[in-house]
Order: sequence, then structure tokens, then C-alpha cells
Amino acid sequence: MITDVHTHYVPQGWPDLGWPGAPRLRIDSEREATILVNDRNFRKIQDNAWDPRVRLEQMAADGVDRQVVSPTPVFFGYDRPAEQAVRIAKIFNDLALEICADERLVPFCQVPLQDPDLACEELDRCLDSGHRGVEIGNHVGDRDLDDAGVVQFLQHCARRNVPVFVHPWDMPSGPRLDRWMAQWLVGMPAETHLSILAMILGGVFDRVPETLRICFAHGGGSFAFWLGRFENAWHRRNDLIGVSEYPPSHYLDRFSVDSVVFDERALRLLVDTLGEDRVMLGSDFPYPLGESPVGGLIRNAAFLSDTARAKLLAANAEAYLG
Ligand code: CO
Repeated sequence: MITDVHTHYVPQGWPDLGWPGAPRLRIDSEREATILVNDRNFRKIQDNAWDPRVRLEQMAADGVDRQVVSPTPVFFGYDRPAEQAVRIAKIFNDLALEICADERLVPFCQVPLQDPDLACEELDRCLDSGHRGVEIGNHVGDRDLDDAGVVQFLQHCARRNVPVFVHPWDMPSGPRLDRWMAQWLVGMPAETHLSILAMILGGVFDRVPETLRICFAHGGGSFAFWLGRFENAWHRRNDLIGVSEYPPSHYLDRFSVDSVVFDERALRLLVDTLGEDRVMLGSDFPYPLGESPVGGLIRNAAFLSDTARAKLLAANAEAYLG
């Protein structure tokens, strides 16, 4: 069953979230809408973001049997008071279940990650109502994935046997990053890279059970390319970064990444570095920085054996979803 583990949804409208400038949707036509944040255009979307029929049609055209459908990070609400973030999570998580009524659409929920107890509670509520996993942002303000509260949540995910998808978001901004989509092209890969570092050096992989199934978006950002630099620093500047029990390369079998890297050389690096069991089809559907047609990179990658290709397209996601 060919499974795309990285897609997003946006509902076709939602109740007022309760503060000035909160994300809302402007319907532009029957098939188009615009997400507004702080009353300014954030992103144009089409009906494939909210209409399961359109989604399933496009999946069929691309030969995808199943999608993991995750929130769009702009709605996480991690910077709001926790009670507000719970409300947002409930609204969006319940709307996601309506969009994902067809079993080919596998819903992942969002949680108020700034409050670990509430996050665990919302995860449990969602699992009871039909969600199959959780997408989290790669940080909560200045707290990265090694934050005690985030680790508490990840341990809960391991206990509940729930797959976690980590998506970069809330990228640094400034004059040098606020042009050319640099926040997406440079900021996002750096964010993901940093969060994998935080999981290793913050000792998270030493503390959470090995059964935790966690996947990082966009091929894990720049991590794989710079693993050698990281490894060298761990040995040569051990006084500064030697805080994990083992060197970075020891933890490569503890997480997965998706295949949204657009270039066969990059995909090959991921498979060489993490192994053919650790890379899964992802597309970032339905956004313009996503792969289209979905799965083209894996299907056409000459270096992959048929066995490896089948793992990347299907079997690895099967194991990840559980
Ligand atoms: Co995405």
C-alpha cells in the first residue's frame, strides 16, 4: 500500500479562534481560499486542502493508496495561552476527522505542546476518536525537542504506541530571511537539522524508549549532509558537545525521515546515511513546495533496488504507522 506520510489539510472554515488577528479563512471562490494571519494574506489554498473527493482523485492520479493527513503548522497555536491552544487543537482535530472519513486518509492530530499535560490529554482524546498519530512543530518558542515538557509528551507517545511526525515551523525572520522564501528554503531545513541535534545532544534518545517512532519532515533538513561535521565536533570538541551517551552516528536508527528532497542525489544520501528502512515517501501535498507528481523521485531513482523502492513507498510507512 503506497503511503504518503507528509501531507496537510486545511478545513473550509472554522469558528473564530478568539483573539485579534487569529488565523481565519477567506473563501475566494468555490475552489479557492486564502489563509489570513494577522489579517494579512498568508497562503492561497485550493479545494484539495479540504475536500476529500478532490484529494482522493489526485492521489489516484499519482498512484498513492493512502495519505497521512497532518495539520498545517500555522494553526498550532503554541505561542498562545495553553487553554486557547487546546481549543484550537480540538476545533481542528475534530474537523480533520470529517475530512478523513475515508480510510485512505489517515488523520494525525495536533496538540497544545506548550503544556505537556494538556498535550497528552488531547492526544488521548484524539486517539479515542480516530486519529492515528500526531504532528508536532519542531520547537515551542525557545524550547526545542529536548525540553522536559516535550520529552514528557514524547514518552507518552511511546507508551501509547503513536507515531510522531515533526514538522519545522516558526522560522527565524529578519531582513535577510524575509525575502525569496528564504524562511522556507534555508530556515526550514536548518530548523529540522537543529531539532535532530537537540534530540541527540539533549539526551532525548537516551531517555525515551527505543520503541518511539518519530519521523522528521523534508528529509530531516540539512542533518544528513552535515552528519560528518557533527560527528567530528562530538569527538574533537567533546568538551562542548559530548553530552549524549554516544556519538551522533549511534542514533541513526532511532528516527525516520520523509523523501521530500526533490533530487536523486539527496535521496541517495539519505538512504546511504540512515538506511533503506528509515526513509519514507512524503510529498508536502497539497502545497506548491511539495512534490508533484507524488512519488516521482522514489519511482525514478535508478540507484534503488526494487526491494528498497518498495520499502520507501510502502513498507516503511506500514511499520511507522503500526
Ligand atoms: Co509540510
